[in-house]
Amino acid sequence: MMSRISEMIDPVGGFVSGAIFADQQIYEQELENVWQRTWVFLAHESMLPKQGSYIQTYIGEDPVIVVRQKSGAVKAFLNQCRHRGMRICRADRGRAKSFMCSFHGWAYDLEGNLVSFPHESNAYPEGIDKSKLSAIKVPRIENYKGFIFGSWDETIPPLEEYLGNAKYYLDGYLDRYEGGMEAIAVHKWVLPANWKFNVEQPTSDMQHSEISHVSAVEALASGSDTFDRKSGRKKVPEGRQFLSPYGHGGAFFGKRGEEIPNTAPALVDWENSVRDKIEQRLGEFREVRGHMNVFPNFMMLGNYTFRVTHPRGPEEMEIWSWAFVPKDAPEEVKEAIRVDIMRTFSPGGMFEQDDAENWEEMQHILRGAKSRQTGFTYNMRRLPVVYDDDGYPGQSTAHVYSDNAALNMYGFYRDLMEGHSWEELKQMRQGVPEVDKRDFTRVMDPETAAAAAQSDGAYFPTADS
Ligand code: FES
Ligand SMILES: [Fe+2]
Repeated sequence: MMSRISEMIDPVGGFVSGAIFADQQIYEQELENVWQRTWVFLAHESMLPKQGSYIQTYIGEDPVIVVRQKSGAVKAFLNQCRHRGMRICRADRGRAKSFMCSFHGWAYDLEGNLVSFPHESNAYPEGIDKSKLSAIKVPRIENYKGFIFGSWDETIPPLEEYLGNAKYYLDGYLDRYEGGMEAIAVHKWVLPANWKFNVEQPTSDMQHSEISHVSAVEALASGSDTFDRKSGRKKVPEGRQFLSPYGHGGAFFGKRGEEIPNTAPALVDWENSVRDKIEQRLGEFREVRGHMNVFPNFMMLGNYTFRVTHPRGPEEMEIWSWAFVPKDAPEEVKEAIRVDIMRTFSPGGMFEQDDAENWEEMQHILRGAKSRQTGFTYNMRRLPVVYDDDGYPGQSTAHVYSDNAALNMYGFYRDLMEGHSWEELKQMRQGVPEVDKRDFTRVMDPETAAAAAQSDGAYFPTADS
């Protein structure tokens, strides 16, 4: 039996079913097949400055504590007490010598090992093996240039291999400055929409800006290149979109070496003053005026908003959005970045509100049975994928408006959801991506879309399939 998920996502035909954003059964499968089997961003070095510094975050719905050890290494463990399952640590962040569960007082060290509990000698007269009652540890922790990721999957390839050519584009954001980056502020909020609506956007969708964000763009960057006030026409901007085998993607406006002004003038001035150093460091001036996502949920925007979106059921996400700044920048530049992020991509930001309006509304519509059976169209800009083109490593499309990266992301998501092992995924995701084998004669057939999306409990392969 073919699993239904492969009928719901068709990277060759350019179609994704609305059900993947709304179905409870699909969501449950994501928790296991996506969130337990990918590299998930946990913390930045600057959030864990000292021994015992910790922050609490999530891998999917699972709360984890990320802690700087005495040795200087960073470790992480499930924030769930082995006694009755209460949260071991209830603060968002801080500094600790150990963690004591506030229910009955079981205490854990910085690695998550159980070290003591009340009445130890007389309540358990036959003894208890504490070494078997550690908090569940995140087995894989790796660090890319100060950005710490974790995975529950011991078989996942090393982080750098997982990132692949996305590193080139990622470096534009996080390895731009000699002194590195630091997080100076965070906003956290809950939005009633599926987490994939958020991650799809920085992965792929630049075109919505000229419609959804037109007032914000006009207010902040009048005379911008994308909109001709006189004719009212939208110009088709230059730029590029990249995609990668494990679902990462991104896009930026402009040509090689050409910088598009940021909305924070103080940053532009400072960046111009250190441009030579950036070029030396990266080998050329690397564009960041756009956005990208490291699958599943680590996103960054051109104004140094870095964010994650935690899944909270099929109809809700929790967004955590940090303001990152170049550590070596003058205070007024750091402040300008922080204020710019407040104005643009904070919960009350001009752009963020536009995006939230779309995602919430789409989610609301998906409550309908008919709406859920609709196939959505991902067929924009039928330009081919090019390889190592014009000095851009890996796979890209020489146009900033394209659905290729989104389709490619859903293709990887489908492969994960089908439960393929990492050995299989490594083979399957090599070579020409499916989006480059597009069959443009194939039209999305509403009946097939509806049949694929009908919930009959058979989305996934069963033991006898
Ligand atoms: S649940 Fe943690 S001590 Fe009882
Ligand atoms: Fe947007």
